[in-house]
Amino acid sequence: MTIQDVIALKEQGINEARQAGTLSDIEAVRIRYLGRKGVLQDVMDNLKSVPPEGRRDFGRCANELKQDLTRVLDERKSVLSAASKVAENKQFDVTMPGAWRQPGTRHPVTQVIEEAIRIFSILGFTVADGPDMETEYHNFDALNTPADHPSRDTQDTFWLDKKTLLRTQTSPVQIRVMESCKPPIRIIAPGRCYRRDTTDATHSANFHQIEGLYVDHKVSMADLKGDITFFAHQMMGPNVKVRFRPHFFPFTEPSVEYDFSCHVCGGSGCRVCKNSGWIEISGAGMVNPKVFDIVRYDPEVFTGYAFGMGLERIAMIKFGIEDIRLLYDNDVRFLSQFS
Ligand code: PHE
Repeated sequence: MTIQDVIALKEQGINEARQAGTLSDIEAVRIRYLGRKGVLQDVMDNLKSVPPEGRRDFGRCANELKQDLTRVLDERKSVLSAASKVAENKQFDVTMPGAWRQPGTRHPVTQVIEEAIRIFSILGFTVADGPDMETEYHNFDALNTPADHPSRDTQDTFWLDKKTLLRTQTSPVQIRVMESCKPPIRIIAPGRCYRRDTTDATHSANFHQIEGLYVDHKVSMADLKGDITFFAHQMMGPNVKVRFRPHFFPFTEPSVEYDFSCHVCGGSGCRVCKNSGWIEISGAGMVNPKVFDIVRYDPEVFTGYAFGMGLERIAMIKFGIEDIRLLYDNDVRFLSQFS
């Protein structure tokens, strides 16, 4: 076998590779030329019989046979496989349902929080924040809640240790804000609260509140009623009615509880409002002067109102949800209805 023979074999292999019409044709050419019993092996076997002075050139040509042919085979392979992909696409079934990812939706409680922030910002409120893990001092003592008050009963509170607990209300944020700022103050504080409640259709051990606090000269109960009513109309629509009932909270004096007329039945009575026509939202009142003493505000100079709002309750009447547990089941079939 001469060098010319090797060059001729290389040309022949390259031609065959270029003419291969399918991927398996290419594989056949590769095996025939570069395989274990193929042409290249044959050439190498012939190397021994080449006279010593010609071996170098012969070897170089054998190498070129391998390299050039491999390159052409690879090129041809990528051309053919690209073409076969195009062919595959031509068989695309236009009746097949498309690949579709369902976009997420905001949780109803998140929607209520965002809407509440929008509404209260119209009235000049900004958002404040406090920790879920609270001190006994902020959650109770500073809110004028003495140690023997029923809301401090271990039945109601998740204690983490002797002085720390999971906040049972967002009211401790009132204290944190007043500790660090001077009046005038106008904040809302949305967040999670925790109570050792047995879960049922209207109770959950983990729920959300928005706290509101407004402290300035001459803040009055009329401001409280006006602002809550404005909120109710913005959140629920102009037909919702608001009702205030006398109540007791240690940190407000006087105190009220307030209800919205049921949005689901329009006040005539249904399952959601337990046939009363009203839904209790939470409590409110004028900041107790004792609390002002604790945070070193002068009660002779400043007055203020504070309110809480149960966000699940608002979400339930706004969206007509009959069971609070649905809000925590994480079932997309339920959650996607509120986009
Ligand atoms: N924190 C009270 C509760 O959870 C509600 C409240 C807030 C009452 C602010 C008065 C003022 O029941």
